[in-house]
Amino acid sequence: MSYQLTKEGEEYLEKDLPEARLLKEISLGKKSMRDLQKLPFFSIGFMWAKKNGWISVKGDIVEIAGSGKSALIRKSPVEAALESAKNGNTIDTDSEKILLSRKLIEEVKEKFEFKEKEIAQLTPEIIKSGVWRSVPFRKYDAAVQVPEEYSGRKHILRMGIDTIKRILVEMGFKEMEGTMIDAEFFVNDCLFMPQDHPARTHWDQFSLKNPKMIKALPQQLVKNVKAVHESGGITGSIGWGYEWSGEIAKKIVLRGHTTSLTTHYLMDYKNPPQRFFSVDKVFRNDTIDKTHLLEFYQIEGWVMDSNLTIRDLMGTFREFYGKLGIKDLKFKPVFNPYTEPSFEIFGRHPKLGKWLEIGNSGMFREEMLQPFGITADVIAWGLALERTLMLLYNYDDIRNLHGTLCDIDFLRKVPVLWKY
Ligand code: PHE
Repeated sequence: MSYQLTKEGEEYLEKDLPEARLLKEISLGKKSMRDLQKLPFFSIGFMWAKKNGWISVKGDIVEIAGSGKSALIRKSPVEAALESAKNGNTIDTDSEKILLSRKLIEEVKEKFEFKEKEIAQLTPEIIKSGVWRSVPFRKYDAAVQVPEEYSGRKHILRMGIDTIKRILVEMGFKEMEGTMIDAEFFVNDCLFMPQDHPARTHWDQFSLKNPKMIKALPQQLVKNVKAVHESGGITGSIGWGYEWSGEIAKKIVLRGHTTSLTTHYLMDYKNPPQRFFSVDKVFRNDTIDKTHLLEFYQIEGWVMDSNLTIRDLMGTFREFYGKLGIKDLKFKPVFNPYTEPSFEIFGRHPKLGKWLEIGNSGMFREEMLQPFGITADVIAWGLALERTLMLLYNYDDIRNLHGTLCDIDFLRKVPVLWKY
């Protein structure tokens, strides 16, 4: 801490301290209180001389006492400290206290000097000193090149799922919910998939070690499904002509498509009109390449009404994909055990120019609907979410988004196409 003398301090240093001056007057013979009181420095001088034990008072007479004598010839500690302070030297804490309380010294506030022409970085000193009032702030340069910062954001899949769900809700669909593991009955048998169908082998689907089997299945539905598979039941179809196994139907697998959700919902919603969807994960034992993954998302959906045709299905796709901005669509007939007629949906990749299969669909067959007791028409589909996003975001390798090989740069920079 550095100090400077106050005006009073300066005056005392020049003319001596009031107590010293008083002492001098007394030593020169002025001893009567009445005379001393006339001196301009009397009251302060008297107080300190008394406090220091320099004087004693008897009636009207003041006399120099004890240490007063040496005080006459020696510099007092207070005076010495005042001198030190004047010269910028340090002073002991006792003197410092006294000089401060007598307001003979004051702290020297360090001056803050700011030499720049503009303020680039605001500091506490700039605010305290008031420099900010007169020195201009540096202007922002929005064009300057800076390192890129990546803050948290939604993953492209989550963005896509949220957007697609919103579109389907807008189109009047309700969401289906269910489990990723399920009995083969709901994944395959209810879909009129014969039990020796290649898609039902371990080449294609993942089974569970524990639990291996579901405990119970809905009895009446099991009966109806068995009849349809074996002989067509009451549908007029001849079925697949084999002995249907209830044990195979009980096996638990990772669902290979979300059409298993549809079969669960068909048990509860048998009367038209109905519209349901899901955007959920499925698992297939595929070989991973540019367009295939072992787990991916399907956009499942179905509409139940009377007098539906394949045209309604095509119209639904034109509307749905149109809302995403995908206009280039092609439909190609295909076979599914559970739909007739059926067709695949192709979309054109904007960068590759190639037609990419983005979905499969059809009208549920009699063999599929009859066991549920449904007589209305049902159009249904399963669309590929990642491939749909490929068309929207222009990427050409599905592995960019999933798993250990995903392209982090792509995920960071992928544009937000919609607001939701
Ligand atoms: N389950 C079919 C698939 O995974 C899609 C589909 C669903 C087709 C419903 C027709 C009806 O490819």
